[in-house]
Amino acid sequence: MLTSIKSHKLQYEGQKLGMMYFRVALVLFGAQLLMGLIAAYQFINPDFLYGIFDFNVARMVHINALVVWLLYAMIGSVYMMTPEETGQEVVGVGLGKLAFWVLTLAVAVVVVVYIFIQIGPGKESTIWLINEGREYIEAPRWADIGIVVVVLIFYFNIFATYMKGERTGIMTVMVADLLALAGLYLAGVFYTDNVSMDQYWWWWVVHLWVEATWEVFVGTLAGFALLKVIKAKREIIEMWLWIEVLMLFGSGILGLGHHYFWIGTPEYWWEIGALFSALEPVPLVAMFVHVIYDWGKEQGAHGGSPVINNGPTMAWVTINAFGNFLGAGIWGFFHTLPQVNVYTHGTQFTAAHGHLAFFGAYASVLIGMFYYGIQKAYGIEKLKATFNSKMAIVLITFGVIGMTVALTIAGYEQVLVERAELGAGWDPYFTAQALPWMKQAMAWRMIMGVVTFVGFVYLFIDLLTIGKKEANN
Ligand code: HEM
Ligand code: HEM
Ligand SMILES: [Fe+2]
Repeated sequence: MLTSIKSHKLQYEGQKLGMMYFRVALVLFGAQLLMGLIAAYQFINPDFLYGIFDFNVARMVHINALVVWLLYAMIGSVYMMTPEETGQEVVGVGLGKLAFWVLTLAVAVVVVVYIFIQIGPGKESTIWLINEGREYIEAPRWADIGIVVVVLIFYFNIFATYMKGERTGIMTVMVADLLALAGLYLAGVFYTDNVSMDQYWWWWVVHLWVEATWEVFVGTLAGFALLKVIKAKREIIEMWLWIEVLMLFGSGILGLGHHYFWIGTPEYWWEIGALFSALEPVPLVAMFVHVIYDWGKEQGAHGGSPVINNGPTMAWVTINAFGNFLGAGIWGFFHTLPQVNVYTHGTQFTAAHGHLAFFGAYASVLIGMFYYGIQKAYGIEKLKATFNSKMAIVLITFGVIGMTVALTIAGYEQVLVERAELGAGWDPYFTAQALPWMKQAMAWRMIMGVVTFVGFVYLFIDLLTIGKKEANN
């Protein structure tokens, strides 16, 4: 069915490969949400599927599917933009396609193993064959090795194309950033018995991805999208991109300290983490102002009638600017000082931030790139939002914001009751879980999760049909 997202109008093989990555990303996004719904329902009714499909498994597949679909969509986006930026067909694209199939097969096998082997001893063979036990990047070691090989092929494709073609500022930042992004994965492959040390390195992947390398990466994507969709000026975009690179790497790298408060690392991390992570929202604000400024400026330049040649992409990029600022900047800043984090650490507040940040900073702009792909694949001059596109935008955004609010309230209750009043412990945890505020918040999260999922159904249908509809207009 997904093949009805055609790619025949695409001029470059590299872009066709990009569309292949997009299709898998979309399916995994759906799977992610289904798993989220199961896990959310288990909060309300803990007996649901108990012993058949446990909460820890639903949760694990939910967040690993998230990371994997975002990575697929990122790789797809790189394959979409590289030929256009460099003016070149992707070098070694045949090898790239082979790597795509190897990766997809590996992902499928890993998920099937997660589902069928839910419990067992934590032995060396478990790490190799079943699960590494590292939140977000649980893939077993055999798959890690496969992932490294596939990523090396991908990087070769992109780097060789970059060297051969035109080297724009956007491509330069992207190629450099991808090297850092891929290299960091290696920090999550080695295992040590010491939990503090293990967590120390694990955060190198998780934090330095989402708060440094991925942020710079989506900066290049949003820049590229603005360039194409509203014909923003390249010089302005590239100037901001370089400023953002400097600022994000400056604050994001030492901002790592906000995960080193309570895991057995030295106490100097309190000061370092507090200072630098508190600075992290600054580049996010800059990025936000940048998008709005560019847009306003372009509107003025065309006598008040904006040139937007892809409505859905522009909408999702705008959501990205707001969402990144709110989810990462505001919700992140809330709990980043150790004086606050000592109360909020590991509560539902963290989950509130996690949802809004991942959605606002990454899911949104990547959905925007899906629409860019469709526009190219059908050779549509001006892609207008359909009823389905609008329903998807409204329901998904409203649903995620609703879940975030519910989780924030649950986190607030935990801070007051479980942490401040009862002093943080096993019993206080369960006392807080049983109070009405928590129960109501969990019910609202469930309802808003369903709203999000309905929005996804609209998105899915839209992506399958919008190209054909608009191409005939
Ligand atoms: C797009 C960027 C971001 C994403 C996707 C993101 C996502 C997340 C996620 C998923 C967690 C939970 C990790 C876990 O499972 O333990 C987390 C934790 C945290 N994030 Fe972010 N984050 C982002 C940016 C930021 C920023 C800019 C700040 C600070 C200004 C921040 C502050 C924190 C803090 C302090 C924690 C630890 C929470 C705790 O102690 O429980 N985050 N983040
Ligand atoms: C149908 C909608 C969704 C539902 C019902 C849902 C539900 C859940 C549940 C129940 C958890 C486990 C929380 C816990 O351990 O206490 C979770 C974790 C998580 N979900 Fe979702 N989710 C949904 C959509 C999303 C979306 C759209 C994103 C991001 C784009 C996302 C990102 C995450 C992250 C990052 C975590 C880990 C948070 C942490 O450990 O702090 N989820 N979700
Ligand atoms: Fe962080």
